[in-house]
Amino acid sequence: VRVYLPADTTALSLGAEEVALAIAAGAAARGVSIELVRNGSRGLFWLEPLVEVATPAGRVAYGPVDVADVPGLLDAGFLTGGAHPLALGPTEEIPFLKQQERLTFARVGVVDPLSLDDYAAHGGLVGLRAALAMTASDIIQAVTDSGLRGRGGAAFPAGIKWRTVLGAPGIEKYVVCNADEGDSGTFSDRMLLEGDPFCLIEGMVIAGLAVGASRGYVYLRSEYPRAWRVVNAALKLAREAGLLGDDILGSGRAFDIEARLGGGAYICGEETAMLESIEGKRGQVRVKPPLPAVKGLFGKPTVINNLITLASVPVILAKGAAFYRDFGQGRSLGTLPFQLAGNVRRGGLVEKAFGLTLRALLEDFGGGTASGRPVRAVQVGGPLGAYVPPADFDLPLDYEAFAARGAMIGHGGVVVFDDSVDMARMARFAMEFCAEESCGKCTPCRIGSTRGMEVIDRIIAGDDRAANVALLQDLCSLMTDGSLCAMGGMTPFPVQSALRHFPADFGLDSGEAQ
Ligand code: NAI
Ligand code: SF4
Repeated sequence: VRVYLPADTTALSLGAEEVALAIAAGAAARGVSIELVRNGSRGLFWLEPLVEVATPAGRVAYGPVDVADVPGLLDAGFLTGGAHPLALGPTEEIPFLKQQERLTFARVGVVDPLSLDDYAAHGGLVGLRAALAMTASDIIQAVTDSGLRGRGGAAFPAGIKWRTVLGAPGIEKYVVCNADEGDSGTFSDRMLLEGDPFCLIEGMVIAGLAVGASRGYVYLRSEYPRAWRVVNAALKLAREAGLLGDDILGSGRAFDIEARLGGGAYICGEETAMLESIEGKRGQVRVKPPLPAVKGLFGKPTVINNLITLASVPVILAKGAAFYRDFGQGRSLGTLPFQLAGNVRRGGLVEKAFGLTLRALLEDFGGGTASGRPVRAVQVGGPLGAYVPPADFDLPLDYEAFAARGAMIGHGGVVVFDDSVDMARMARFAMEFCAEESCGKCTPCRIGSTRGMEVIDRIIAGDDRAANVALLQDLCSLMTDGSLCAMGGMTPFPVQSALRHFPADFGLDSGEAQ
C-alpha cells in the first residue's frame, strides 16, 4: 500500500513526523506492508498533516491527522480507503484544490520530491528537452511570448531581462535564483523547494541555456533549514543523473548550480544586496544602474529571478507560450501562487490565473476569518504592501488593477485581519520593520523609519494630530522619492493605506487623514 505524508515544514510543524512513525508502526503491527512517500504539502494547511492513500480509484485523503487518530484510522481500514470521520474523499476533488489552476505547482504534493523518476513520470524534463533543441534566442522568445513577469513582486517581464543578459558582452554569465522569501505571510518559494525542487533546477538550466550562462546560484534564507536540505539533496541527485554538469542530458552543454544560505537579513532579498551576500560581503544595496543584467554577480551579466519565475519556465517550454498566456488577463498573464495567511479559516496555497477577485480568494478559498469575525483589512504583497479595505475586495488580482488603487500584488502574499485589528499599530509596525531591517545605506530609510515610528506614536497619543499627520505624509513622500531601494521606498505603502482607509484608528476623521 502506498501512503503519502508530507515532510514539508508546515506538515512537520503540525506533527507529521510523529504521525508517520505511528502509521509505520501500526501497519507493521497489523502485518500490512506500506510504502510511505514523504511528499511536499498540497498547500491545504488547515488539513495538515494530510495523509493520502493510493487506491485503485486514485488517491484519497484524511486530515488533519493527529497521532492519537492513527489507531482508529487503521481500525477503520484507511489503508484501503475505508470510511472515517477524517476522510476527505478523493484528494483532487477537495474544492480548495479542485478550483485551482496548478501549472507551476502541478507536481507539488503529488510527487516524491527527491525522485527524478517520479519527476519525469509527471511531466518533468519535457521543457528542458524542448529547450535543448532550440536556439537561445528562441527560448527567450517563448518566455517573452508567454507574458511571464517577475514573480518576486516587481513584475518585470522575464523575457526582456533574459534578452538583456544574452545581449550583454562577456563570456562568463550567471543565473541567480532569489529564494530569500522574506515577505511576511509568504511561503510559495519554500513549498516549491520542499515539494518539487527539480522543477526549479530545470527552470534554472533552461535560463542558463537561454542566456549563455554555465553556472547558477540558489540563494536561500537561513530560516528554511528543511528547504536547504532538500535542495542540496536534489542538486546532488541532478548532478548524478546528468541533469547538471558538463554534459546536460547528453547534449554537450554545461550548467551547474550551487546553493548559498543567507544570514537572516530581509534586505538580502533585494537583488543587489543578495549579490553582495553571495560574493561573501555584507548584504548592502548597490546603486543601480548598472543593472545586474549587465553587471551582476562578480561583475558579470546576471539573470536574477525569483524562484517562482524560474519554476514557471519548464511548463512554458513544455506546453508552449500560447498555453501559458491563455491564463490571466491584460498584462497579467499566466498564474500566480497566492498565499493565504493570517486570520483565515482555510489558509494555504492557491495557484490561480490572474483576474480572480480578492473576495473570491478570501471567501471561496479562505472561507472567511479563523476567528469568525468580519474581515476588516487584508495586506497584499508582504510587509511593504498596502492594506486593502473591504470596499476594494472586488478588485481583480491583476498587477495593473492593484497599482491603479495604490496597492500591489507583490509576491502574492495575502494576510487577513479581522475587525479587532488596530490599523494605527499596524502602520507603526511598518516603520518599525523598516527601522529593524534597513541596510542603513541611505538617510530617508535609515533615519526616516525611526522618525516615522515617533510621529505615529504622537498621532496615536493625540498630540497635535493635524500637524503630525502632515509631517507623516511629508516623511512618507520623502521616503518614497528619496530611498535607494524598495525597503525604504515602499514602507510608506502600508502606512499611507492605513491612514487613508482607517483614519478612525488614528483618532482622525477621513478629511484629516488626507
Ligand atoms: P525593480 O522594478 O527595480 O526591478 C525589477 C527587476 O527588473 C530587477 O531584477 C531589475 O534588475 C530588472 N530590470 C529593470 N529594468 C531592466 C532592464 N531594462 N533590463 C533588464 N532588467 C531590468 O524592482 P526591485 O527593487 O528589484 O524589486 C522590488 C519589488 O520586490 C517590490 O515590488 C516588492 O514587491 C518585491 N519584494 C519582494 C519580496 C519577497 O520576499 N519576494 C520582499 C520585498 C520586496
Ligand atoms: Fe538600504 Fe533602506 Fe536605502 Fe534600501 S532604502 S538601500 S534598505 S537604507
